[in-house]
Amino acid sequence: MAKVNIKIEGIPFQVEEGLTILEAAKKCGFEIPSLCAFNHGECSRGSCRVCLVEATGARGLVASCVYPVAEGMEITISSPKATEARRTSVELLLSNHNKNCQQCDKNGNCELLHVARITGAREDMYVGEKTETTIDRLTPSIYRDTSKCILCGRCIERCKNAHGLGILGFEKRGFNTIVAPAENRSFANSPCLLCGQCVTVCPTGALMEVSEIEKVDEAMKAGKYVVVQTAPAVRAAIGEEFGMPIGTLATGKMVSALKRLGFKKVFDTNFGADLTIMEEATELLGRIKNGGVLPMITSCSPGWINYAEYNYGDLLPHLSSCKSPHEMFGAILKSYYCEKNGIDPKDMFVVSIMPCTAKKFEKEREQLQVNGLRDVDAVLTTRELGRLIKRSGIDFKRLPDSEFDNDIVGEYTGAGVIFGATGGVMEAALRTAIFVLTGKEAQPVELKEVRGLEGIKEASYNLGGKQINIAVAHGMKNAKVLLDDIRAGKSKYHFIEIMCCPGGCVAGGGQPYVKPCFLPDEDADILDTYRAKRAAALYKEDELRPIRASHNNPQIVDLYKNFLGEPNSHKSHELLHTTYKAREGFND
Ligand code: SF4
Ligand code: SF4
Ligand code: SF4
Ligand code: FES
Repeated sequence: MAKVNIKIEGIPFQVEEGLTILEAAKKCGFEIPSLCAFNHGECSRGSCRVCLVEATGARGLVASCVYPVAEGMEITISSPKATEARRTSVELLLSNHNKNCQQCDKNGNCELLHVARITGAREDMYVGEKTETTIDRLTPSIYRDTSKCILCGRCIERCKNAHGLGILGFEKRGFNTIVAPAENRSFANSPCLLCGQCVTVCPTGALMEVSEIEKVDEAMKAGKYVVVQTAPAVRAAIGEEFGMPIGTLATGKMVSALKRLGFKKVFDTNFGADLTIMEEATELLGRIKNGGVLPMITSCSPGWINYAEYNYGDLLPHLSSCKSPHEMFGAILKSYYCEKNGIDPKDMFVVSIMPCTAKKFEKEREQLQVNGLRDVDAVLTTRELGRLIKRSGIDFKRLPDSEFDNDIVGEYTGAGVIFGATGGVMEAALRTAIFVLTGKEAQPVELKEVRGLEGIKEASYNLGGKQINIAVAHGMKNAKVLLDDIRAGKSKYHFIEIMCCPGGCVAGGGQPYVKPCFLPDEDADILDTYRAKRAAALYKEDELRPIRASHNNPQIVDLYKNFLGEPNSHKSHELLHTTYKAREGFND
């Protein structure tokens, strides 16, 4: 890449040609305030004017997030003119903003508050009429509060880039402009996947997850038997809430914290993941043997299920009928576990800690209950778990490590752990399918061809004389390519893994924010690597597990022997399988 010579604040630097001033400044260790720019130009509308600087060769001040560097350019961040202009831009944004920072869940991660601080914004400099507010709290997953929106458009770009969707857009005009689903509908009345990808990039509290912390507090106060399970991706990211580097595996500290928070039992959703593999691999092999609908597609990502129900109703028979791992585990806890431990299932309250906002919606699906009891009662995101731990004053970093509970359920294998990364479900399923079809354990146990962040990965295996073609996609934009092929009768695959969020659950919509302005300089390029770093933490845990294939989990073997019978049995279907329904995209 060609280089150009520039000066920032009088200091000479050589930087890559084509960078914006904002990107070049960040690389050279300068912070220019910014709001609408994000993620290497994924969204730079140049609308907030918070990043204004002086640059030779330009007329007046320039928005550094869209203005490219040029040979010989001298950039001044600190001139009185630029300083005052940036401060005024922030003050204007604040003049149309609901400033209830004390009660705002974004406080601590709010980029508007951050730029207000670093630009020295003065209180109530511009007071006047405010844009009419819409608060949409109709979904159990995410909410929208336009009184906190700065119209940066990042959410619109993220929805488009991740999924090829345009759920959010600019509505109305001029001073009345808001960001909303078409015609300012609720998310609940639009074909939104509730994946929360837009929430992860929103700089303010305008888009947030719906918190269920109070629901958990109430269950504890009411004396319920409150148990908790944590998804694999949570352990690979919860440390970030407490300043630990991205990619830190914090399993033991997380379990200790949950025990201190008063949960009666702390389980690992990976037990449910192992169970899912037993059911899903059996379902796949049954479909192959009996001429069932192929390719079969995984069903553990609720954002993906929403996408399928809204957009590919004709392909629903391709979806595995397996519930997702935490739902399976909830159903087993309220049946097998309660029965063996003399607990009335009505007294049990199951909390799932998930990297995902769509799971909050999933747990409310009417298909996901047994005998009138929901499999799971509350879902907290990794971020909410961070808030819960901080609220109680627990010193997370200094906690000793603890083990998950695993009396008759809870034991897990390496196969369960890797569910959190794109390709993980496929790899786990193949470890078991290979064993069932050949009678031999997968060798090598690591199937690296399905790992990594490529949008679509594919591979082919000869299993017991039969050629099995598989594919893995993450982000609905990639999934669409595979789905359109199935629709056109052109798919060559037997089994497809689809995860809604780009990178899989490690980068789910409920995971800790990765915001450049809050990261140290050495992590300037983290937006390219954080997904891989979190996934690497899970592959590390897989390597460390003594048992790495689901069919070898002794508690799963016992569960089938003592309770379920065999995979895909009548009882398994009653407790562990579900159905799907095509849905209309827009309704009021
Ligand atoms: S979005 Fe930020 S500035 Fe606005 S109320 Fe919340 S914390 Fe305060
Ligand atoms: S939740 Fe997902 S699908 Fe819905 S608007 Fe946000 S990014 Fe788009
Ligand atoms: S909702 Fe958030 S991300 Fe979307 S435009 Fe408003 S402030 Fe920006
Ligand atoms: S960050 Fe440059 S205009 Fe918004």
